[in-house]
Amino acid sequence: MVRIMFERLETLPPDPILGVTAAYRADPDPAKIDLGVGVYRDAEGNTPIPAAVRDAESALLASQSTKTYVGPAGNLEFNERIVELALGSALASSLRERTATIQTVGGCGALRVGAELIHAAVPDAVIHVSDPTWANHEPLLGSSSLRLRRYPYYDRASHAVDFDRLLQHLERVPPGDVVLLHGCCHNPTGADLDASQWVALAELFERRGLVPFVDLAYQGFGDGPETDVAGLREVARRVPNLLLAISCSKNFGLYRERAGALAIVSANAAIARAVATHQARTARRMYSMPPDHGAAVAARVLGDASLRAAWLSELAVMVERMKALRRLLAERLHARRPEHDFSWLVRHRGMFSLLGIDAGQVARLREQGHVYVPPDGRINVAGVSEANVDRVADAVLRTMGT
Ligand code: LMR
Repeated sequence: MVRIMFERLETLPPDPILGVTAAYRADPDPAKIDLGVGVYRDAEGNTPIPAAVRDAESALLASQSTKTYVGPAGNLEFNERIVELALGSALASSLRERTATIQTVGGCGALRVGAELIHAAVPDAVIHVSDPTWANHEPLLGSSSLRLRRYPYYDRASHAVDFDRLLQHLERVPPGDVVLLHGCCHNPTGADLDASQWVALAELFERRGLVPFVDLAYQGFGDGPETDVAGLREVARRVPNLLLAISCSKNFGLYRERAGALAIVSANAAIARAVATHQARTARRMYSMPPDHGAAVAARVLGDASLRAAWLSELAVMVERMKALRRLLAERLHARRPEHDFSWLVRHRGMFSLLGIDAGQVARLREQGHVYVPPDGRINVAGVSEANVDRVADAVLRTMGT
């Protein structure tokens, strides 16, 4: 009889992002500062539930009469509304017949189901991810046996997108390869493509037959929910095949409810119908079906004119706060080191920027300053506050040795 089973498993190192939260919670220092995991925070350091989301939840609970299964594709109304939010109603409706959408377990579930489908369709498919990218992208996509490559994205000296090198790389990628793009608010760099770069990229994808896989986790967190997806829409208008992973974690504040969707646009309606069957089977084999609550809430917010308007204005407040915090931190850093340029912090979009520090400096920031960031030196600007900004600025500059 084989007696050895889990003894073979060795203890793993902590997750690069979630491990920061655990370490922060374990630190008894009352002045500790969490700039780690990407969650929005208000002035009190709380991650609020938007009032529109709460109202939708109350209405949902009052009206819900059953908890019976929904099915692997999840909430169909949610699927339709969330794709409409991303693509806009005109484009979503012109692509409807070619689009197969499934509700997923958050944006991560969408990425993973998408990777499974790519692998099912083309077992030796290659997917190119930005260098750098979100710490969980390669593990999530690689777990589906896709072959991973990196494309140049970020110039550390200028804290900006290195678009020339990105284009040079993608011009050499074989047709049919998949390219993962961040829809907006690039994680971890905060450096986004501008409108003309998106147009150039869309043209390149169309001309070279590359397949875009857009990860849209922060719609609305950059410059608002319409502006943030102008690039995605440009790409979607031009290419025959597109994968779109959507998360409702940040913009709806639904993090733990795991509400997301995977939309796949393919060349024609018949292919889309086949894709839908594969989406459902993949979900069934991995987790059967997604949790209902978050998606039902988001569908209600989007489908009710007054809840939707209230949610959009709450989203605008969150975005303005993050922009104000970027300005505040840049000002405080600049006041201490006027010879250095920190304006990149203000130019970046969304919650993240890279400080440009290495893992050793990250450890010092934690040990000496009790400031918690992931090993890649990413900061979540929403974790900065009027109350802690001076301590953040001092600790960062001490660590950087500037
Ligand atoms: C982040 O990047 O911090 C968030 O997307 C949360 C996560 O799951 O890593």
